[in-house]
This record gives sequence, C-alpha cells and structure tokens, in this order.
Amino acid sequence: MNNLIYGLIFSALTGGLTAQSHKPNEYREHALRHEGDVVRGAKLFQSESLLCSKCHSVDGTASKAGPDLRAAGDGFGRRDLIAAVLNPSATIAPGYGTVIVESKDGTSHAGILKQKTAQKIELMGMDGILVTVAAEQIKSQIGTSISLMPQGLHVSLTRDEFTDLIDYLVSLKEPESTLEDQVGAPRDIPELAKPVELKPFFKEAFQLPRGKAETGLTSMRQVPGFPNVFLVLHQKGVIWRVEKSADLEKREIFADLGTEVFSDRGPNGLLDVCFHPKFLENRKYYLYYQVLEDGEVTTRIVEKVFNGDFTADSGTAVRELIEIKSVAEDHSGGCLDFGPDGFLYFAMGDTGPHHDPNGHAQNPKLLLGKMMRIDVDHKNAGREYDIPKDNPFVGRENFRPEIWAYGLRNPWRFCFDKATGELWLADVGQDRVEEVSLIKKGGNWLECL
Ligand code: HEC
Repeated sequence: MNNLIYGLIFSALTGGLTAQSHKPNEYREHALRHEGDVVRGAKLFQSESLLCSKCHSVDGTASKAGPDLRAAGDGFGRRDLIAAVLNPSATIAPGYGTVIVESKDGTSHAGILKQKTAQKIELMGMDGILVTVAAEQIKSQIGTSISLMPQGLHVSLTRDEFTDLIDYLVSLKEPESTLEDQVGAPRDIPELAKPVELKPFFKEAFQLPRGKAETGLTSMRQVPGFPNVFLVLHQKGVIWRVEKSADLEKREIFADLGTEVFSDRGPNGLLDVCFHPKFLENRKYYLYYQVLEDGEVTTRIVEKVFNGDFTADSGTAVRELIEIKSVAEDHSGGCLDFGPDGFLYFAMGDTGPHHDPNGHAQNPKLLLGKMMRIDVDHKNAGREYDIPKDNPFVGRENFRPEIWAYGLRNPWRFCFDKATGELWLADVGQDRVEEVSLIKKGGNWLECL
C-alpha cells in the first residue's frame, strides 16, 4: 500500500540483521569502557554520510525532524545515549513517533508531527522538508511505534568512532550562562553517593486479559478506608483490585472498560482514578481517560459508584462531568484528585505538538495546559458541576472559570502535601529539564522552574 511504511519496517528489520554482523553489544560495551574524542565525535555527527545532523539540530532551534540535542548530555546518561543510537525504536522520545498521513489523492507522507490545527497538519520527514496537508485532504492519520531514526547507523563506524560520537553527545550540555537565567535550575546534578533502592511492591507482574501488561500501568491508589486495598490502572482500561498485606497478595479484575476508555490508535487511554472525600458514605469515584472519537482526541472525567460492599463497581450509569476536545494529540496530562478543600482538581496537558506552537497553555479560553478546580457536589449553568466562588478567574472576561493555574505542558502527576495542603505537580519538561512546580492559585508556569 505504501512504500513509506514498508521503508520504515524494512529499515527496522535490516537494522536488526546488519546489527548481527556488527554486534551492537560490542559497540555498547566498548563505549561504556572507553573514553572517546569529543572533537572527532562532533565531526562524525556533522558528516554527510552519518546523517545525524540531517535530523537533529544542536543549537536549541528544534528545526529538524528529530529532537534537538543541544542538551542531550544533561538529559541522558551515557548508557541511555548509547541505547538511543543503537536501538532507536526501543524507546521513542515522547511525541516523536513516526506519523503516517495518507491523503485523498493517494499520496502518503511519513514524518514527525510538527503542527496540527483544525485546518492542516504539518509533518517533517527524513529530508527535513516540512510537508503540509490540508485537513480536508486527509484520508487517514496513523501513529506508529517505529522511529524515523534508522536502525543500524553504527555499522558504518568503527567501535572507536562510535565511542567518539557518544562522547560528543555526552558533552552536549546547556551553557552555564543560560542556566544562570533560569531560577531553580541546578548547574550540576550530582549523582547520589548511595543510589536509592527500588523494591517491587507487588510480587508478580500484572497480566492483561488480552496479553501482557509490561508497560501501560498508569496509576495506583489506595482505596480510602481500606488500608490494604489498592486500585491499579492499565491504560487499556483494565482496573485491578489488589489486597496486599505482608503475607497476602490477592488480585482480581475490578473493571474492564476496554474500548470505552481506550482506542488502539491512541491517544493514552485510562490515566487516573480518585475517590470522593466522603467516599465511605457515597462510594463515588472518578476516572480520567482519553480516547479518540470521530477523529478527535477527547479527554473525559466521569463519576462512578462502588457497590455496597466496596468490592466492585456498582454498575450504575456513569455521570459524565466534563469533556475536553483537542486537535493535536500529545501531552495529555493525566491526573486528578480532591484537594483538602473538597474540590476536584485535574490537570490537562497542552496537547502538543512540541513547543506548543498554537499557544494552548497561554490561551485562557481553553482548558488545555491548565490546572482546573471544580465542585462536583453541585450543578450549575447547564454544567454537571459548579465553579467554586473563589476560583481565581471567576468573572474575568475570556477566562474559563474552571482554571486554577495555567502555563503547564504535560502535567502528569500531582499531589497535595498532607501537612500543608500545598499542591505539588510534576510537569514533563522539554529537552533538558523536568519540572516540579508548587502550584499557586492563579499562577502562570510559563517560564517557571
Ligand atoms: C532520519 C532522521 C534521523 C537520523 C538520520 C538520526 N536520528 Fe536520532 N532521532 C530521530 C528521531 C525522529 C528521534 C526521536 C524518536 C526516537 O526516540 O527514536 C531520534 C532520537 C535520537 C536520540 C534520543 C533523543 C531523545 O530526546 O530521546 C538521540 C540521542 C539521537 N537520536 C542521536 C542520533 C545520532 C547520534 C544520529 C547519527 C548517528 C542520529 N540520531 C540520526 C531521527 C533521526
């Protein structure tokens, strides 16, 4: 059907084949044990034959198809950089999966999504040329988990040259002068003398009814009033109820919501759960999920009810609280919880693409790139919820009154400090930094660290 897809798959396959004769393991081990020459590595990176600079800028402009690597050495350890070059499709940088657009005239284009609006879609392919397809021309848009970055790029290099290239990537760090302008950005991030030990909480891996659950676990919350009972969520819509104590680990499927909360074609599916402050009285709980409906990414928050003995969903009809539409389909955000004030807070991502080119997070008419605060116990003005009177933008022209704070990118997790009630949020950062933000009423996190 389309040479581009075959080309991509072919590159992944042949990469695998050629890699056997240039064993990636040997390159990896060599680069881990030896020090390379940064200047020679830079020359290789810029060389026409190795192609790296065709797809990657290193000046912070993000002007090419792949991620800008200006601060690659800040963001990744040596081991990760080696893996990124030897096996690009193993982990795809968020938002950089290859997208294939077929247009009605029979042509198709593969590339990285650079812009998507209601009118058009812009993709950048391997050649660095921006292709625009008008919305009415789009026949289909498919996301893939194959990297645009070819597999097996190392085979044209000796192991020493490969090590030089890795040392060049390691050397790519944010200049100190720019760091000084960024409040809160540490110049060096030292490794802990004693690494933090991570211990598995559950004894066994989770199994989906339809396959393995190696990735895709999105949330785990303790059920209020039941210290040993947890709900564990998978993005594909499966919720497990797990009872866990020193000698017991009992798990059963609490709900299997399947296509209701997940579409194979993306975006992110089931993302989070939380419980009403009076859960033990009213058994209400809330889900946050994202699905693709009629070609549009829809984020939804719904209210459901546990059964009388708190072991499963009651099966009563879902109450849909809010639905948020977005055109692009990245940076979902994905967290909700009740604050100490009894109101429901939830965070939405800017929905991308990279650099938020449409300015969603700064647009007060949209709920994208924002933290919201709503009252789920009352309904008002045709809404399934009410607006708390002291929300910061109530009555302000052009502002959605649900907004509590704005300027967020991909707010993935937040929680309230039990002692102080402060709202701490983890926002997925771009390029060099990840952000931990202390969210204040009415604040704008545009340039905040
Ligand atoms: C055809 C375009 C293309 C070429 C050529 C290419 N890359 Fe990439 N590269 C990408 C894309 C797209 C991604 C993001 C998807 C992914 O993670 O695989 C990426 C990811 C990376 C990453 C991980 C960055 C991140 O933010 O996760 C590194 C490091 C990298 N490339 C280095 C290189 C080096 C070194 C070369 C040359 C040997 C190279 N690339 C050649 C397109 C390319």
